Amino acid sequence: MRSRALSGRVRVPGDKSISHRALMLGALATGRTHITGLLEGEDVLSTAKALEALGTEVRKLGGSWEVLGRGVGGLVEPARAIDYGNAGTGLRLMMGVVAGHAMRVRFVGDPSLSRRPMGRVLEPLVRMGIEVEEVGRKTLPLTIRGTQDLMPIEYVTPVASAQIKSAVLLAGLHASGATTIVERQPTRDHTERMLRHFGARLTVAERDGARAITVAGDAELEGRSVNVPGDPSSAAFLVSAALIVPRSEIAIEGVLVNPTRTGFYVTLAEMGADIQLRNEREEGGEPVADILVRHSRLKGVRVPPARAPSMIDEYPVLACLAAYAEGETRMEGLAELKVKESDRLLATAAGLAANGVPAEVEGDVLTVAGSALGVGVPGGGTVATHLDHRIAMAFLTLGLGADRPVMVDDADTINTSFPEFRSLMERLGATVGVPEGVR
Ligand code: S3P
Repeated sequence: MRSRALSGRVRVPGDKSISHRALMLGALATGRTHITGLLEGEDVLSTAKALEALGTEVRKLGGSWEVLGRGVGGLVEPARAIDYGNAGTGLRLMMGVVAGHAMRVRFVGDPSLSRRPMGRVLEPLVRMGIEVEEVGRKTLPLTIRGTQDLMPIEYVTPVASAQIKSAVLLAGLHASGATTIVERQPTRDHTERMLRHFGARLTVAERDGARAITVAGDAELEGRSVNVPGDPSSAAFLVSAALIVPRSEIAIEGVLVNPTRTGFYVTLAEMGADIQLRNEREEGGEPVADILVRHSRLKGVRVPPARAPSMIDEYPVLACLAAYAEGETRMEGLAELKVKESDRLLATAAGLAANGVPAEVEGDVLTVAGSALGVGVPGGGTVATHLDHRIAMAFLTLGLGADRPVMVDDADTINTSFPEFRSLMERLGATVGVPEGVR
């Protein structure tokens, strides 16, 4: 339903990727790690609980968090299965963390996580020496046996995935020798940056146009302070809302603008969005800026496959935004969207269709017809979210400019990554009526 104009300055919660990594590296370091700006969404809290189950002290101190590290290889066998809820990143990285410990760990998760492929992480970890009790199984529930004698490997990732890369690097810390991971397409580099910040020996080299990242084994990490910048993937919903609703003008302070994460913002600029980065600075080894955005008339564009890794989580909301652009938007190279919290390719196309927006999936390409001048987005549909927080937020954002309200069948999933979604939207002036359970 058409919203009032959005205005004001806000901050979004901490980056989810960096939050998971800060907790894990804190646990693998010796001494204290102090974290400010940690995302307190369910996914990250699953990592905090998992680390506690593995013997680490994780404490909330007022507005910040403290981890008392156990040192590389110092975690202990958990008494019970670790329930990772909806959190794919946390789970896959944690498999790399526990790999170098001589212990048995059983992982379970919610129905969404239990459908997602884990073979991509298990494969390199098995080469390094872990065993999977459920031989041949590639989805949760899974029980893995780590080893103190992890072998260093060299591994070329078959898909562009920061999660595979990170799991191997985290396991590599425990191996006896140097572990190298080669990625043909660059993916988010928070693990590399943070490993260096904690004192790991890590090198990055170019090899035949690919990135070869090598981490030294038998590592010793030292507790550090980490300041988590605002999550650009969460900011993307607020930015999109301001672009959709006429007369809006908002500022979002302290957002991560690491170039491995800003493909969405590059695409918006090509669509003609009025977006400015202000006050660009570096905080804790990551580039950060304030984002200023004004309502803009957008035009449809082609988004090339090479850009996918740097905006992989932003396609649902980009597709919703494309519904308001003049002309067609064609997004290519989206195969990975099929294995996110839901099949986002199908869920996005179905949500658009339910709200009167023509959208088509052909292989790994999603095409969205923009609204012709003077014709809006009809809305009025209910979107199936399939336990996927980003599908829920993308379509609630779509609704802000639609002729009739857009409903989602489940808004509780938003708590996994962005519990403040509704309150921040409302603070900016948007009307989002979310059922109970979301702040
Ligand atoms: C993430 C990597 C991406 C992304 C996810 C977070 C990370 O997944 O979709 O939300 O923190 O490493 P893939 O590595 O599977 O592409």
